[in-house]
Amino acid sequence: TPALRPLLAGNWKMNGTASALATLDAIAEGITRLPDVFDTLLCTPATLVHRAASAAKASRIQIGGQDCHTGQAGAHTGDVSADMLADCGAHFVIVGHSERRADHAETDGLVCRKAQAAIASGLTAIICIGETGGEKAEGKTLAVVERQLLKSVPDSATAQNVVIAYEPVWAIGTGLTPTVEDVASVHRFIRDHLAARFGAEGAGMRLLYGGSVKGANAHELMAIDHVDGALVGGASLKADDFLAIARAF
Ligand code: G3P
Repeated sequence: TPALRPLLAGNWKMNGTASALATLDAIAEGITRLPDVFDTLLCTPATLVHRAASAAKASRIQIGGQDCHTGQAGAHTGDVSADMLADCGAHFVIVGHSERRADHAETDGLVCRKAQAAIASGLTAIICIGETGGEKAEGKTLAVVERQLLKSVPDSATAQNVVIAYEPVWAIGTGLTPTVEDVASVHRFIRDHLAARFGAEGAGMRLLYGGSVKGANAHELMAIDHVDGALVGGASLKADDFLAIARAF
């Protein structure tokens, strides 16, 4: 099977006010100097999506949100819908990040409905999955990943409207990464699962690795079969750090 066009995605998390648009500009400028063989996405706070999308318009950078509601409008004070993100110029939205699963008790079922809302709005949903350190220690990684795939990925998923991000929770923001062998076996498992469920669409879905990706390990991680990109947290906040990863693509 031909390699999928890789996706380099940054997740700014709850970081970034107007001054962060300078970082976006620097990333966009650096990306133009690299071969056009991968897609680049920055998932900014919802408050920046509109300005970031405007600023990125003439560049190779696309903009995404970090969460959306299951509905498109209504009495949900403080929430942001997928329609609203799309209206602001977003093309993607992350759903089910482990920080939201932990901080807001988001369940697999809720994540699935958020992904459905994203798809209904024309966004690509980046559905995050991954085991905790405790689950890994108990040998439950594949069982957890399988449950999350079954329950968080909607039946309407296609290669265009869904991206899967495998982020081992223990690797996020810790400087720790799984071994190449562990990433390879989990991504192979995810691919087989998606291909069995969705056929050619599952074979075509991009699978990102996330968790302490940096310039120094990006090349090794991106060379792994069925790793079709990265979801980068901390190293997406500084242009130099993010561009060091981009050079591995
Ligand atoms: O969504 C990306 C993130 O959870 C990974 O964070 O800081 O380990 O790259 P970081």
